[in-house]
Amino acid sequence: MHRRWLPMACLFVATTLLWRLTSPPPPAADPPPPSPRRRPPLPYTYASTLEWLRTANLSEALAGASWRPSLDEFDLDAARHGKWGAWLRDDEPVFAAAKAVNRWLFLEPLFYSGGRGSTAAAPMHLYILHALRPAAAASRTPTLLDAGCGVGFLLQAWLLLAGEGARAVGVDIDSRAVAAARRHLSSAHALAAGVARPRRTRVEVRRGDALAPPPTLLRDGEADAVNVGLAVEGVGALRGLRRVLRVGGRLAAPLCAAAQPADVPAGMCVARFTVMSKGEDGELYPLPSDPGVEVRFIKAMTPETFPPPELELQRKLKRAMAHRLIVS
Ligand SMILES: *[C@@H]1O[C@H](CO)[C@@H](O)[C@H](O)[C@H]1NC(C)=O
Repeated sequence: MHRRWLPMACLFVATTLLWRLTSPPPPAADPPPPSPRRRPPLPYTYASTLEWLRTANLSEALAGASWRPSLDEFDLDAARHGKWGAWLRDDEPVFAAAKAVNRWLFLEPLFYSGGRGSTAAAPMHLYILHALRPAAAASRTPTLLDAGCGVGFLLQAWLLLAGEGARAVGVDIDSRAVAAARRHLSSAHALAAGVARPRRTRVEVRRGDALAPPPTLLRDGEADAVNVGLAVEGVGALRGLRRVLRVGGRLAAPLCAAAQPADVPAGMCVARFTVMSKGEDGELYPLPSDPGVEVRFIKAMTPETFPPPELELQRKLKRAMAHRLIVS
């Protein structure tokens, strides 16, 4: 009798093993939302958030978080005295727009996913807005493409800064960031109490290769401004983005330096943050006034270097990277 059962038992064990090996791991559940006392009060105001941050016990409020942001991540006025201060100091419209966006809301998922590397620091965001703002002036529908938009803070700030008719388009390779950005941009708590999104603004976030937005998303010359949220080896990598930029439009990108210090981890580079304009000939030219500040940035990931979202590997990779990254 047992002679007939043995092969069947073996087959069962083998099948089970095969199934376990080939089936994708279940997606890790998101951490439960923090309780209200672990968040700044709502409705959002810049002042009440800063007040809360100054008095809250962040190690308690962000228990279980892998990134506990410092006050500087939210105290935007501190940027007036930092590395970017000389350029930012008097740009009040930029400060006003950024303060009107609930930065905590946008960044919160990153506290738990270890995604410090997934967003630029506050002064960097302010500087990008400052550098790209002039491109909005000449347009009735001032359009920003944020290539590598992450959780979407810059998209929201652009709509406020560029005003009526503004359009913000975000592209990111990370589907979780795309989902978070969409959620935040449609949240009732995204903007400060009493601040409304200007009329006729539009925002759209799509998963895809940040350096090659499809023509269905943006036609040639449709963008007034482009922010590149990832470092690239040279202007050649910006070909797909140059396409969507109008002549005279502005593009900001971290360009990796030719020689890299030995201590720069893989996936990152020391870069010059470069602000460029598109000339009549279709080429990108650094603005004469561009200071070319040195930054450390994550290098661009393309569909080839970024595994599909089904794979747990993606999260492991991001987590591993996040521990090593500081985007300044
Ligand atoms: C903050 O919270 C942590 C964890 O609950 C606690 O160990 C620490 O003593 C608290 N710090 C202060 C200043 O209350």
